[in-house]
Amino acid sequence: MPYETLLTEFDEDTGVAVIQMNRPEALNALSEAMMNDLTSALDRCDKEDKVGCVILTGTKKAFSGGADIKEIKDKTFPESYYEDFISRNWERTARLRKPIIAAVAGYAVGGGCELALMCDIILAADNAKFGQPEVRLGVMPGAGGTQRLARAIGKSKTMELCLTGRLMDAAEAERFGLVSRVVKAEDLMDEARSLARTIASMPMAGAMMTKEAVNYAYETPLSQGIQFERRLFQSLFSTADQKEGMDAYVEKRSAHFRDK
Ligand code: CAA
Repeated sequence: MPYETLLTEFDEDTGVAVIQMNRPEALNALSEAMMNDLTSALDRCDKEDKVGCVILTGTKKAFSGGADIKEIKDKTFPESYYEDFISRNWERTARLRKPIIAAVAGYAVGGGCELALMCDIILAADNAKFGQPEVRLGVMPGAGGTQRLARAIGKSKTMELCLTGRLMDAAEAERFGLVSRVVKAEDLMDEARSLARTIASMPMAGAMMTKEAVNYAYETPLSQGIQFERRLFQSLFSTADQKEGMDAYVEKRSAHFRDK
């Protein structure tokens, strides 16, 4: 289905879906229309059995410049509260059940940084810039930035970025564990596709439960998280892919997974 604000593609052979934000004239500012399109595209990825991994990306200059300032600047508090204009559909990305990679080139600032933080893995081009400059607009991060960034890179660095609006480059983001890897800008999509293909080739139940368990680490005390992980681990012994994966290992051959 064509979208007004997104370009999408899906390769049935590899199970990789790519969602590209496509408002280059506004540095992919996250308008209401774009967030609605994104919600719909992500719904489809979760529903389509053959999707094994999703890549969310932008353009060479910007992953996203954040919430669309021109669209929200005249909102009043009652409007923003009743419309719930940030949280209504923004958290959809964080709730995606399939693994999702943010392939970030250029600016990922404000809501753009927060959107990347909702993904499972951030792969950064060497020209990527991350930050939460909302304080300079008279507001503050409103889509999870103060919470997810603090969990990702720690309090001091988060405070510095959120209180000054300073942007950090890809090398600094890698040093502080925000991104899994930095690659040359021209190689970003090849690297993202290769990573996504590997993830999509894994048994689906194991991959989805692994994602669920890692995310659980951010929500619960350690003892509960360990218990949750153990139950998921044990439940995978009910799948054909577990039998195939372990048989193949013992028989020293490649595994042929049933769900992929
Ligand atoms: N909203 C609306 N339009 C935006 C935008 C945004 N968040 N970010 C960029 N644009 C538009 C610019 O207005 C400009 O449009 P015009 O040509 O019509 O003027 C176009 O995109 C190109 O941008 P620039 O000319 O500014 O590009 P630059 O390379 O000089 O600067 C930038 C890049 C530093 C990212 C700069 O665009 C910028 O500061 N953008 C705003 C970043 C920001 O403050 N984001 C936070 C938004 S609030 C938020 O996200 C709240 C939340 O937590 C959810």
